Amino acid sequence: MYESHFGLTDKPFKLSPDPKYFFSSAHHDRAVAYLQYGLSQGEGFIVVTGPIGTGKTTIARSLLASLDDSIVPAQIATTKLNPEELVQLVAAEFNISVEGLGKAEILRKLEQYLHQLNRQGKRALLVVDEAQNLLAETVEELRMLSNFQLDDRPLIQSFLLGQEELKPIIELPEMEQFRQRIIASCHLRPFSGDEVQGYIEHRLTQAGWEGVPALSSDIFGRITDYTGGVPRKINIFADRLFLYAFLEDLTSISAEDVEAVITEMGEELSGSLQTARSAAASVIAGNQTAEQPQGDDLAVNISGDEMQKVLSDVGHVLDQVIQRKIKIIRYLDKLITHKKAESEKGVRSLS
Ligand SMILES: Nc1ncnc2c1ncn2[C@@H]1O[C@H](COP(=O)(O)OP(=O)(O)OP(=O)(O)O)[C@@H](O)[C@H]1O
Ligand SMILES: [Mg+2]
Repeated sequence: MYESHFGLTDKPFKLSPDPKYFFSSAHHDRAVAYLQYGLSQGEGFIVVTGPIGTGKTTIARSLLASLDDSIVPAQIATTKLNPEELVQLVAAEFNISVEGLGKAEILRKLEQYLHQLNRQGKRALLVVDEAQNLLAETVEELRMLSNFQLDDRPLIQSFLLGQEELKPIIELPEMEQFRQRIIASCHLRPFSGDEVQGYIEHRLTQAGWEGVPALSSDIFGRITDYTGGVPRKINIFADRLFLYAFLEDLTSISAEDVEAVITEMGEELSGSLQTARSAAASVIAGNQTAEQPQGDDLAVNISGDEMQKVLSDVGHVLDQVIQRKIKIIRYLDKLITHKKAESEKGVRSLS
């Protein structure tokens, strides 16, 4: 929405993981290095864990985008698969037809396929995303897949990426055999304050940003606090911040603007009308005793002062709602004018 206004060529804070926007923070770099090390070893499991939205899928996509033809990847994002479903899904990802086949037959076809790759000088890489959803027995099935070998060389290698719940699964006593095949593991962490600045500026630059709107250097600390340095949260927040800058006609973004957007988002999330309702309810509850009647009759038990306070609270909230609606209408007007100007420009350039 704001991209063309600021001369950007793309959406800088989109949520889909895109290797083009990959930012090398210390932890992300390390995770990529571990995965690359795993590739160079050609065997065993590499495990990358990390909190929600910290970039696990992004890392996997960046790595897959950088592979040469000698590695044939398959990526699965698991729901709670049982071992049989896992085998079906893996085979299907390698374009092996599994229609109507039982697990043993699928495994046989998969092995044939891996041998065929081997004859072509290639090997298979299985990337299991959302691996925190795997059942323990399904992880064990992955280990069995890693047993496919030819001349002592494994034919398939797996990377597991998952949220923090993956750790306790791997730590189960019965996972010992699996654990012994993990050749490297690492844990992603949110960005530090400095990295948040680098990250936002990097994404903007990738999208063609040339310094407008300018970003005041004191906004990044607050953005780090508010988002916890989690990349997905930063994207959501920065997107709103830029929309705000566009709608308010800003050419630079200050700490006050960041604060205004935090307030706006907070109000939306908590729902201020809800807050006023509960404020009113608590005044009412304070007046209520066991003997007193419930429902409509309750009003007669509230003193004039208290009723005044409830009405004033509700009035205040309604004022806020009206102000917000006015703002939205103003935003929409501006958007319409902007779109109209753009389409007129388009028509002129065609004629
Ligand atoms: N190093 C990075 N460089 C650029 N963008 C990143 C990076 N890390 C994360 N992001 C961005 O953050 C958002 C969330 O990333 P991603 O989906 O990879 O997280 P995740 O850890 O896989 O999340 P989940 O736990 O929900 O699966 C995406 O918009 C992605 O583009
Ligand atoms: Mg993910």
